[in-house]
Formats: sequence, structure tokens, C-alpha cells
Amino acid sequence: MRLVIGISGASGVAYGIRALGVLKSIRVETHLVLSEAARETIRLETDYSISEVEKLATEVHKFNDVTSKIASGSFHTDGMAVIPCSMKTLGGVASGYSDNLLLRAAAVSLKERRRLVLVVREAPLSLIDIENMAVVTRAGGVILPAMPSYYRRPKTVEDIIDEVAGRALEQLGIVSKLTRPWEGEPAERLHDAPHKKESQDTIRGRGMRDR
Ligand SMILES: Cc1cc2nc3c(=O)[nH]c(=O)nc-3n(C[C@H](O)[C@H](O)[C@H](O)COP(=O)(O)O)c2cc1C
Repeated sequence: MRLVIGISGASGVAYGIRALGVLKSIRVETHLVLSEAARETIRLETDYSISEVEKLATEVHKFNDVTSKIASGSFHTDGMAVIPCSMKTLGGVASGYSDNLLLRAAAVSLKERRRLVLVVREAPLSLIDIENMAVVTRAGGVILPAMPSYYRRPKTVEDIIDEVAGRALEQLGIVSKLTRPWEGEPAERLHDAPHKKESQDTIRGRGMRDR
């Protein structure tokens, strides 16, 4: 399997780094593009050096190198994730304005009808951002907001990072150990859960009135 991984300058570069690490551990071939802004967010948000991040990928491509193989649809890949994806990169994908390699590779994924997953991160969102997400969705891309769930009760920041990275990988067809399917509320939590008692009371109460 061969994937393109783009890391843009949105907050949450740890998601992309985690995804790269998992892909390396399961020997998926990865082609990495870091935007200029991603280099800054990696420095600001993590203890990783750029070379440590780059070592997680099979091959690294320069942000401005539009002659790279991943700029061509003739280089077959199984999909691409931009993780995290800034609103600027989202806008570039939505408009088809491919003035860097990350945007060009994303445009190639869409035109070749390959999987493109954008792990967008911004809050709040402007109408422009929302409309750009709609455009990318209509063009066949997947918008996966970096939005963790809490029903598994994450204990650490790493748990939260794993869930977002794992969800993105799932969209590319990779089932990793980062996520597990929800199989209903664990039995130990059901027992004596106050909200469960409350809902039973409500149902019982309504039943009484209906009679
Ligand atoms: C620490 C930091 C966090 C940022 N977080 C976000 C963010 O969450 N979402 C976003 O759209 N832009 C964010 N930005 C702004 C982008 O980095 C900026 O718009 C940049 O031009 C994006 O370029 P790129 O898409 O080529 O990486 C952040 C910038 C910095 C320095």
C-alpha cells in the first residue's frame, strides 16, 4: 500500500506525526509533504525535530517541488490524507489552486478519484471554510474534523491524538490499534450508572400517566 501524507500548518501536527509512525510500523509506503507553516507548528507544538518527523516517512518531497512524482496521476497511490489540514490548504484544494506540492498531490487524488481525507482544524469556522468543505465533499473528498469523542473516556492527550489519527487512517482503509469499534456501554459502567436510573424513572413515570 502506498499513501501520500500532507502535514499543513494547522494546529494538531501531532495527529499527522502519529499517523506516520503507525504507517511506518505496519510497513505502509508513505510519501510525506510538509508545508512551510507545518515546519513552524511542529517546532511550536511538539518536541520533534523536522528530521525526526521526516524519518517516519518512506520518502520526503519538497513543498515547492512540483516536479515530484506525487505531482502526477501516473504515479499510483492508494490515497492521501492532509493531517492536520489548515483552512488555507482546504481553500486551495476547494478552488483547485495547486501552487505547492501538497495542494497538487491533493488535486491529483481528486482527479484520479482516489481517496482524499482532509483532517481539518479551525474554530470557529467562517462561511468560506464551511463552503470549501462542501465543495471538497462534492468533489469526492472526505472532511474529517479533528474532533475527538469522549465516550471512551480518554485519559491522556495521547489517547485523544490516537483517536483522531486512527479515524483518519480508517478512512484510508487502514484498521489500526488506535481505534476500536464501539460495542455499546461497558457492563461495569452500566451498573449503577445514575443517568440510566434517571431515564428508567422517566419512562416509568410516563407509563404511569399514560395508563
Ligand atoms: C501555532 C499555530 C497554529 C495554527 N493553527 C491553525 C489552525 O488550527 N487552523 C488553521 O487553519 N490555521 C492555523 N494556523 C495558521 C496557518 O499555519 C496559516 O494559515 C498557514 O498559512 C497555513 O499554510 P499551509 O496550509 O500551507 O500549511 C496556525 C498557525 C500557527 C503558527
